[in-house]
Amino acid sequence: MALSDDVRERARQRLVFALDIDDPDEAIAMAGRLRGNLRWIKVATRLYTRAGAPLIASLTGMGFNVFLDLKFHDIPDQVEGACRAAARLGVGLLTVHASGGEAMLRAANRGAAEGAELSGNIRPEVLAVTVLTSLDRQDLDTAGISRSVEEQVLALAHLAQDSGCAGIVASPKELPQLRGALPSPFKILTPGIRPRGASHGDQKRVLTPQEAVHMGADWLVVGRPIRTAENPTQALRAIVEEMAEGEASR
Ligand code: C5P
Repeated sequence: MALSDDVRERARQRLVFALDIDDPDEAIAMAGRLRGNLRWIKVATRLYTRAGAPLIASLTGMGFNVFLDLKFHDIPDQVEGACRAAARLGVGLLTVHASGGEAMLRAANRGAAEGAELSGNIRPEVLAVTVLTSLDRQDLDTAGISRSVEEQVLALAHLAQDSGCAGIVASPKELPQLRGALPSPFKILTPGIRPRGASHGDQKRVLTPQEAVHMGADWLVVGRPIRTAENPTQALRAIVEEMAEGEASR
């Protein structure tokens, strides 16, 4: 299929590289290698706990849009403050746990808006995590939740939407059902992406980049298939190419 530059660029805007590297210098070096081919970069708890706000400043200074994946879950006042602080750092996306409840989710969105106003940065989009991919039916049972994983994901996704969140994080296996129930412009970001022919690692359910974009994901988070590749830039470009095929048939 002949793909236009426009389609390829739209695909590239949807790719989020997971910078799951503990050492801050190595993390910045990896980001530097991918610069120019990538817009979004995800920083999660392990790297943020070590390198903190200065690392975010380095990444935004390099021109990246940062997805701060700290999955806040606390009383509303704490989460409001955390999201205000995240917005002041200039991140574009951040995560909270939907199970924190409506008041917490509303507080998160309020904090993000306040932080943006105080700093003049753009307002980060708040995404809600529904059920972690590491949890199964038995874990929910133990926590006193009688719904199936799928029902719980859908219920929390609706709660996130009703509480003003921009979107949710969803596993690939949930994507078709969620996209049907929660049409655009509500956003869906999905990890668990493996290029055609790649190994799955600990990702139990996966989609290819082409499938995920075709099925309506707004952003795809990809880590190891790029990070551990012999040539990360080449691996990234190949993933964008697969995503562009999905973009063309969306
Ligand atoms: O597997 P990969 O390195 O591409 O993971 C990218 C992101 O997907 C990770 O940063 C993590 O947030 C998420 N992940 C997940 N479930 C797993 C493994 C990773 O949701 N089993």
